[in-house]
Amino acid sequence: MKVLVTGGLGYIGSHTCVELSKKYSVVIADNLINSKIEVLERLNSIAHSKVIFEKIDLRNKKEVAFLFEKHGDISGIIHFAALKAVGESVEKPLLYYENNINSLLNILEQVQQRNSKINFIFSSSCTVYGQPIKLPITEEEPVKKAFSPYGETKQICENILSASSKLNKYLRSISLRYFNPIGAHESAMIGELPLGKPQNLIPYITQSVAGVREKLTIFGDDYDTPDGTCIRDYIHVTDLADAHIKALEYLIEKEFSTNEVFNIGTGKGTSVLEIINAFESSTGKKISYKIGKRRKGDVDATYADNKKALKSLSWSPKYSLEQALESAWNWEKNYRKIK
Ligand code: NAD
Ligand code: UFG
Repeated sequence: MKVLVTGGLGYIGSHTCVELSKKYSVVIADNLINSKIEVLERLNSIAHSKVIFEKIDLRNKKEVAFLFEKHGDISGIIHFAALKAVGESVEKPLLYYENNINSLLNILEQVQQRNSKINFIFSSSCTVYGQPIKLPITEEEPVKKAFSPYGETKQICENILSASSKLNKYLRSISLRYFNPIGAHESAMIGELPLGKPQNLIPYITQSVAGVREKLTIFGDDYDTPDGTCIRDYIHVTDLADAHIKALEYLIEKEFSTNEVFNIGTGKGTSVLEIINAFESSTGKKISYKIGKRRKGDVDATYADNKKALKSLSWSPKYSLEQALESAWNWEKNYRKIK
């Protein structure tokens, strides 16, 4: 079975391709807007079968049509490709709407033209819930007004996929709402590779410990949480990759068209200060930090109720927070050739 992985050279996509390659034939479509071509070689050095790469800009209808013509035997699609920087999306909303929404529409247009079953997994985010009413967050939590154009694109794409699945009897789809993916493949050959200054906590920490960045600023310690810093649900990227395989298998078993959503998180909340302590104890490295102002748009606490995924997808996270943090540091060391 052939699976198309859009955005497969990116952080979560590359880890998912490694897991997929154990059982499926994998085609990546990526335009390298937020990834490097060197990831392909690294990925193929640990993949179980060779992954094929097509340099495609998914905003371009003709290129997408060419992709589906060339790989007419695709029966699974995992759609990671999107721009994902929350702050940038506030500054350049049109770029985010254009990229994230048109990419999905162009793919679905091709899917619509086929007369064979297609299993589709969309990368959504817990950001669709905004400020949660109840913790842990279940899939019943209402989707609220998005804090950013990025978050809004996730809500719109989920709606587009749901509408399309109702119309197309061949389409079976799942939106996975990720919490906070962290860490790297155990080989340390692939990992999170942000272009420019990292916006997310863990790559900022590993780069500052590696001496590439200034000391870490904790964005606020006056939140309504036990230690005042924000709480998130950090999940090892390999566990997240595995959730995609399980979701794909779940759809393959489905006889009829469907559209579902699942939270993918560990179910455990960890504060920024707890992350710092866990990183220091699992790697033996000291993190220098200062307390700064709150970052706009951050919510006090989010963590998943993951029971639906545990039960229906027969998935469960395997890695501890300490293992995830250690793997993130091992990747940083390996990439920068630090002893
Ligand atoms: P990433 O930026 O590392 O990977 C995305 C990939 O998509 C990149 O390789 C980029 O070049 C490619 N891409 C973007 N636009 C494209 C286009 N028009 N045509 C072709 N390729 C294109 O991001 P990631 O962290 O791996 O995230 C993957 C998905 O998961 C995204 O949809 C993101 O919104 C979602 N997500 C990520 C997080 C997170 O914290 N990383 C959390 C929740 C949801
Ligand atoms: N943080 C700092 N200092 C930093 C970076 C982050 O204190 O330099 C704090 C943030 O304020 C937040 C926590 O660390 O409290 C986690 O921040 P991240 O940026 O790593 O993660 P977010 O929860 O803000 O957002 C991530 C993705 C979004 C996605 C969201 C939910 O970046 O794309 O998870 O899936 F929408």
